[in-house]
Amino acid sequence: MPYSIFGNKFTQHSGITELMDDLNAGVQGGDDILMLGGGNPAAIPAIQERLTELMQQLLDEGKLINTLANYDGPQGKNSFIDALAELFNDLYGWGLTSDNIMLTNGSQNAFFYLFNLLGGNFSDDKKKKILFPLAPEYIGYADASVSEDAFVAIRPKISELENGLFKYHVDFDALKIDENIGALCVSRPTNPTGNVLTDEEIIHLDKLARENNIPLIIDNAYGIPFPNIIFEPVTPFWNSNTILCLSLSKFGLPGARCGIVVANPTIIKAMSNLSGIMALSPGGIGPEIALPLVKTKEILKLSDEVIKPFYYQKSQKAIQLLQAQISTPKFKIHKAEGALFLWLWFKDLPISSNELYKCLKAKGLLIVSGHYFFPGLDQQWQHTQECIRLNYAQDDDVVERGIAILADEINALYSEVN
Ligand SMILES: Cc1ncc(COP(=O)(O)O)c(C=O)c1O
Repeated sequence: MPYSIFGNKFTQHSGITELMDDLNAGVQGGDDILMLGGGNPAAIPAIQERLTELMQQLLDEGKLINTLANYDGPQGKNSFIDALAELFNDLYGWGLTSDNIMLTNGSQNAFFYLFNLLGGNFSDDKKKKILFPLAPEYIGYADASVSEDAFVAIRPKISELENGLFKYHVDFDALKIDENIGALCVSRPTNPTGNVLTDEEIIHLDKLARENNIPLIIDNAYGIPFPNIIFEPVTPFWNSNTILCLSLSKFGLPGARCGIVVANPTIIKAMSNLSGIMALSPGGIGPEIALPLVKTKEILKLSDEVIKPFYYQKSQKAIQLLQAQISTPKFKIHKAEGALFLWLWFKDLPISSNELYKCLKAKGLLIVSGHYFFPGLDQQWQHTQECIRLNYAQDDDVVERGIAILADEINALYSEVN
């Protein structure tokens, strides 16, 4: 059956679909598959226990059935929006009201709305793109637009650090904004690299966005104040030209599908109208579970004292294992500044990263090939074929066995060319 242009675009193979399929196969495959691919957060016992307690309480009080038995408005659950506004105002003095916040079915859903609101074809025959100032960027952005050719990205500057590490920076000399750009978008911390844009970089991007009268979208799925999987001291950033996106997923509730958008009232109104048409209303279950945590600010304590140290320790352990087992000096790791991933760079890798993905998959290890993470970058650049993303947040035993398989494969590949 022929599909529409929209249908053809959205039914084709995409990196994010492959990733989610792999994730599902990994979850269902049990011990046979070492799942270091997807973006599933870790099952942290203290968080899961607290969430279970909260759900039991909601069940006992009849609030769970009340939430499940009713629609919220298209902007999302009001009590949660009010509590979030109060939390951000207390913490950062942003002066938010309920007109500044809306909820979505996961932040992935918010990006689809935003990219199609701010990019694409405009009635004056102009076409605007979403600009990613620093590639590599999040794979989930890649196909989230109804228009073709909707993104443009800038290659980063790379600084090589001590101890086999490196870090990407925004190349502001290469960053040119004109009337064909509808918004800037960055993830901070960045999925896939674990990079955290510095305060100076964010201030510079904000200035450029305001000068060009376009919004700056900051994807804070891993950032402060929750889940706070961020290992660098950074200043939270928001002003009325910023669209800040948060999520309950990496706090431990990806199945609840709750994204949070903080923006000026005009954007929030437009997004809420979109939400009404696309979804009627966002799911209320995540907001209901997290409401007491936000009201009492316990969400901050859990993020700071449980989630952040958990991921920090895991990232350091995985780095140690990788560096001990992979012998080639051509192996570099992006400095782990946040998020759930390590971004591994194999300079002059004898095969492409996608071929490496297939070899590893055949041996029962799932990682993600780095080439997916350059949406909008059309220049040929060997670097895009030399990196992989590894989720370090899974059980220690899984991470250890996975790294052993990876190390064997990499050591064998480089020994063949030396
Ligand atoms: C950078 C980034 N943004 C957004 C998302 C989407 O998360 P969710 O839709 O679960 O809120 C993810 C998920 O992995 C992510 O890594």
